[in-house]
Amino acid sequence: MLNINVVFHNKSMKGGYLLLIFFISFMYLSICSITVNSELETIQHPVKSEGSLSFLVVGDWGRRGAYNQSQVALQMGRIGEKMDIDFVISTGDNFYDDGLKNVDDPAFEESFSRIYTAKSLQKQWYNVLGNHDYRGDVEAQLSPILSQIDRKWFCKRSFLLNAEIADIFFVDTTPFVTKYFTYPKDHKYDWRGVTPRQTYIANVLKDVESALEYSTAKWKIVVGHHTIRTAGHHGDTKELIDQLLPILQANDVDFYINGHDHCLQHISCTESPIQFLTSGGGSKAWKGDFKLNKVGLEFYYDGQGFMSVQLNPNNAHIKYYDAFGKALHKFKVLKQFHSSI
Ligand SMILES: *[C@@H]1O[C@H](CO)[C@@H](O)[C@H](O)[C@H]1NC(C)=O
Repeated sequence: MLNINVVFHNKSMKGGYLLLIFFISFMYLSICSITVNSELETIQHPVKSEGSLSFLVVGDWGRRGAYNQSQVALQMGRIGEKMDIDFVISTGDNFYDDGLKNVDDPAFEESFSRIYTAKSLQKQWYNVLGNHDYRGDVEAQLSPILSQIDRKWFCKRSFLLNAEIADIFFVDTTPFVTKYFTYPKDHKYDWRGVTPRQTYIANVLKDVESALEYSTAKWKIVVGHHTIRTAGHHGDTKELIDQLLPILQANDVDFYINGHDHCLQHISCTESPIQFLTSGGGSKAWKGDFKLNKVGLEFYYDGQGFMSVQLNPNNAHIKYYDAFGKALHKFKVLKQFHSSI
């Protein structure tokens, strides 16, 4: 598209030259669609000069500052500054209770722009949608108009963030959950762009699988709103265990990062290197609503907070913070050198 626009603007070009450029553009696009064997939209993000990457993760937040959302935001700003973060990830449920009404909904500024005001948070935010976002006008959250109102905002249903040492796959998990479709009387959902549901899900899985197979990044991280494994209120998401988890394990995904349960959590796994990280403490938390007998449970905090991730070529550092910015839990993962000898 870009090539073609350039040609149109340059009116002094001769007709034959113009045709040749059209032909080259066409060939280039055809080759691209053959070599890039996934439909997943890919966004590039540069790493720091020493090849590292750091970011914060927050989920389940948009409540106009209430339920400690502002306190969490303040501490994110402080830690973000200290870590010199490259971007922020939101695990969804961006606006409570019912997403955004339209692109002019004041909740966008009241719950986002005027809350995450720290200098260090004026980076790109990569957002996925949660089930509460599907209760409003989903297309408003996906609209480029929001990115014009606030340049930090970036939201797509499913996409791949390619940041050299890490490939981060964002997956739209809400359509996987059957109960939102079988009990539609509870809430109204905006399923535009998602029907027919089985085709939509099959395409998401196919795109994520082929993008994962194609990935050569050192770290493979998958982000979705819903839990796969959790000790929290909602429990494991069976649909994701059955359909998404086998693809993640077959492709050696390092971390699955989610929200949905309003807590901070770390669960390890014995069958594959994958670790399940919940960062859903962006505002209202659910005190005391969890089961401690969960297999692999390393850490659970039932209050508000957020998570930080520092990725280097050979190690990753994950840390969880409460609403005072106090570090509650941290762990490190080492990557083996793959010797070619
Ligand atoms: C805000 O955070 C503090 C400290 O964790 C907690 O005691 C308090 O209940 C929280 N307030 C709300 C409204 O969640």
